[in-house]
Amino acid sequence: MTALSQRPVDPVVGRAIPHESAALHVSGKALYTDDLAARTHGVLHAWPVQAPHAHALVTGLRTTPAMDVPGVVRVLTADDVPGTNDSGTKHDEPLFPTEVMFHGHAVAWVLAETQEAARLGAARVEVDYEPLPSIITLAEAIAAESFQGARPTIRRGDVGTGFAASAHVFSGEIQMGGQEHFYLETQACLAHVDEAGQVFVESSTQHPTETQEVVAHVLGLSSHSVTVQCLRMGGAFGGKEMQPHGYAAVAALGSVLTGRPVRVRLNRTQDLTMTGKRHPFHATWRAGFDAEGRFQALEATLTSDGGWSLDLSEPVLARALCHVDNAYWLPHVEVHGRVARTHKTSQTAFRGFGGPQGMLVVEDILGRCAPLLGIAAGELRRRNFYTPGQATPYGQRVRHAERIHAIWSQLEASGDVLARQREIAAFNAAQPHRRRALAMTPVKFGIAFNFTAFNQAGALVHVYKDGSVLINHGGTEMGQGLHTKMLQVAATSLGVPLARVRLAPTRTDKVPNTSATAASSSADLNGGAVKHACEQIRWRLAEVAARTLGVGAQDVLFADGRVTSDRGDQVLAFDDVVNLAYHQRISLWAAGFYRTEGLHWDMSRMQGEPFKYFAFGAAATEVEVDGFTGSYRLRRVDIVQDVGDSLSPLIDLGQIEGGFVQGAGWLTLEDLRWDTGDGPGRGRLTTPSASTYKLPSFSEMPQVFNVSFFEDAHDDGVVYGSKAVGEPPLMLALSVREALRQAAAAFGPPGHGVDLASPATPEAVYWAVEAAQASTKTAGTSAEAVATSAATTAVHAASPGEVGR
Ligand code: MTE
Ligand code: MOS
Repeated sequence: MTALSQRPVDPVVGRAIPHESAALHVSGKALYTDDLAARTHGVLHAWPVQAPHAHALVTGLRTTPAMDVPGVVRVLTADDVPGTNDSGTKHDEPLFPTEVMFHGHAVAWVLAETQEAARLGAARVEVDYEPLPSIITLAEAIAAESFQGARPTIRRGDVGTGFAASAHVFSGEIQMGGQEHFYLETQACLAHVDEAGQVFVESSTQHPTETQEVVAHVLGLSSHSVTVQCLRMGGAFGGKEMQPHGYAAVAALGSVLTGRPVRVRLNRTQDLTMTGKRHPFHATWRAGFDAEGRFQALEATLTSDGGWSLDLSEPVLARALCHVDNAYWLPHVEVHGRVARTHKTSQTAFRGFGGPQGMLVVEDILGRCAPLLGIAAGELRRRNFYTPGQATPYGQRVRHAERIHAIWSQLEASGDVLARQREIAAFNAAQPHRRRALAMTPVKFGIAFNFTAFNQAGALVHVYKDGSVLINHGGTEMGQGLHTKMLQVAATSLGVPLARVRLAPTRTDKVPNTSATAASSSADLNGGAVKHACEQIRWRLAEVAARTLGVGAQDVLFADGRVTSDRGDQVLAFDDVVNLAYHQRISLWAAGFYRTEGLHWDMSRMQGEPFKYFAFGAAATEVEVDGFTGSYRLRRVDIVQDVGDSLSPLIDLGQIEGGFVQGAGWLTLEDLRWDTGDGPGRGRLTTPSASTYKLPSFSEMPQVFNVSFFEDAHDDGVVYGSKAVGEPPLMLALSVREALRQAAAAFGPPGHGVDLASPATPEAVYWAVEAAQASTKTAGTSAEAVATSAATTAVHAASPGEVGR
């Protein structure tokens, strides 16, 4: 076996190739889960009966009227469940509830010959509700002390000591909105049953094994009786890590009861009103700095809005707490976390998984305090960077901390930052009603699942007699390019051309007990497993070839379909060696396994080494804000991202661009609102469509967008020296928010902190501009007074659905 990170000469990894399905994606030929339903005979369609209350008891349920609708075949209710009536893993999510926990909660499902018949049938199901009081906003939940799950604390040192040593102490409050995944493909699945009662579910899921387990426990079956396959997903972004299970269970149950294939595919409105989103967060904080602006102490309480059930809220919160430090050394720190229970959809994983919310807190603190400290925000950030040898608040040494400094310098140079800052100052001085600003923010993101056991993966590699290769691994493809990378890893480790390797869809009967494709670590984990499987085969082939080449097996080289050695000039074809091996009865397939070494995590103390390494990056964003309207443009974005030695540069570039734009959407445009009034619509999502929920589009792309990889970034602990890229770039968009803050501040006198709501919609920016202009009149505001205004502004300007503006 070769070292995990060591690359052979002229490897297939590292080549800039298109996504393996790019041509299929753009030509419409790529098959998604729901396309299979159209190709399947006799499919039944499912439609949910959605409750019109945020919180209510179901006191009566009459399904017979639905049966009068032509085409309706069956109505599924709790009475039909042979196993456990639960769609989650925490046993707090009844699949068919007797207590409605959010507006739009499905209480029953109708199966019919057509989707239209199912819809009409669902409208005829009679449900009696007894409405109950509901908690919709985070503020209401905090006031009512409505919390769920663990309440972890990360602590280092003693904040009292830190504050005592601080020259400046500020405090404030911030509330940030959630985010809708808006994957192009909504939740979808298709279930079949065979003659032996084995269930086969096609599901658009990031976590086939967990979908399998939930289907099995709902049906009262063992895992070996349920197989889940995921062809590919049309986007997932964390929204298909836990949310698909219940729909798969409905389809599987329907299929078992009717003996027919059953399809569940949510339409967009159903998807938006039924599925979980990024967690909104609220935070209170107190920060102490020394005279030079170095953090001495940080105390904070983060409260996430978990919605009606736990889902992934606890791990999301843990990751938020583990990222409050972002790239900064906090000598004394104490951060508390709690998950609010509200009567909303159950909030879930979303790219960054709490990391963005945690980092927003510290970037908000630095952005607000910089003017009060009289230090430029970028300089304040740089002064607080980790230096080599320092450790995070949870006790993990920050390996490669010097990269944060190096990336920052590389970005300043490539982004021509100093010269542009002078231009911006000149522009602002000359313009009465417009302001520009440039902000730089760093990212340090921990790679691995906090929960150590999840850091394992498997693969199954077959070499056929003709020398062609088929690989299977535990990860799923959601557009992020994992399959492309795995093909490159297999071609590299077997030494064959890329075209000789094919990849089969993810299935639980090929590779069992998989972890979710999540935490950005799927290439690390599955790449390790694919490489392990390929190397076993390559070693067996080396022994076969060695005899022909007259060298030792360790001297046999595999590259580009040729098998050679440095010790002679004889060249064998890979295919011939394979054929020879077959006739010598040598096994040509192997299972691979990988586990990330060196991880440990104590969840109760929030201490340990949960991450294999950190992914670093930094972005410089320039914006221009119009003072009359608060509208703005992204003039230029420069990014330097540490992707290690890239496995696939085009894929990584796409991940960085896409992640950044998705982050900018979260922070500036995407504004989830719920009806917080006391009328009958209380708790209803009032942004249930693309017309009311603004997503980033081409018109919001930065006018200039330069992405580069950090140079000399090889990481020796990861497959072929690469690093994860899926989530970290999303948090680079914090530079957009900070640039908007600085531009708004530039409408007022220097030395004033500017608070900005999140999302920083044009409306929110307008209020920030107005506040900055107003501060002219109250020049000389003390730090204490600013701290108070921070709190009131947070209430005034936070996401309106949350605090009720
Ligand atoms: N990129 C695309 N195109 N579509 C997606 O759904 N999901 C993101 C990220 N990039 C996503 C994406 C999320 S939330 C994660 S965790 C990673 O991809 C997961 O894949 P990886 O582990 O292979 O990076
Ligand atoms: Mo990603 S939020 O870890 O699926």
